[in-house]
Amino acid sequence: MIRLEPLTGRHERRGFESGVAALDLWLRQTALQHQAKGISRTFVAVPVDQAAVADFAAAGHADIGPESILGFYALASAFVLTQDLPTAVGKRLPRQVPVTRLARLAVRQALQGQGLGRLLLADALNRARGAAQSVGSAGVFVDAKDDEASRFYRRFGFQPCADQPLKLYLPIW
Ligand SMILES: CC(C)(COP(=O)(O)OP(=O)(O)OC[C@H]1O[C@@H](n2cnc3c(N)ncnc32)[C@H](O)[C@@H]1OP(=O)(O)O)[C@@H](O)C(=O)NCCC(=O)NCCS
Repeated sequence: MIRLEPLTGRHERRGFESGVAALDLWLRQTALQHQAKGISRTFVAVPVDQAAVADFAAAGHADIGPESILGFYALASAFVLTQDLPTAVGKRLPRQVPVTRLARLAVRQALQGQGLGRLLLADALNRARGAAQSVGSAGVFVDAKDDEASRFYRRFGFQPCADQPLKLYLPIW
């Protein structure tokens, strides 16, 4: 069982490896700094309690402790030019629109393929929608790092932007 919570200094950032060094490094070196400056907000999945830590150990993940990060995502605000959004979406909007940017998303490599990425994405979308009730945001925008990541987002309804298949967008409204 896992719990999602805001990233703090007590989370064990060093032990997190997603298989993508740039994402791991960002979590280690940048996430907290950006959070302190209000640039982005990072949310992490951690074991819900000591019993969950024991379950992970029994499943062969002895390196997972109570403060281990199992996966994370980061959200930020952005403006996009409507001409860069998927053509069908852009028709109804002014020239520029505020969006929520899914700035980072990663799952611990040893736990990939078990549904955690889906859960993190669902939480990120819920949070983006909740925030958009108070501060305008037309949708969620993501820069996929490669074709494989782009395929992951497309499974969940994200559409590639005009002429930029690695930039994807999901309207909130
Ligand atoms: C991409 C990532 C976040 C997915 O997390 P995950 O926990 O492995 O994914 P899940 O197990 O929740 O998979 C959810 C669904 O997406 C599919 N999926 C997972 N990874 C996929 C991929 N790379 N391409 C296409 N589909 C993918 C799964 O098959 C599953 O579909 P199903 O429910 O129909 O079987 C994870 O693999 C990861 O951290 N990769 C390295 C970092 C990265 O690429 N981040 C994206 C940055 S842009």
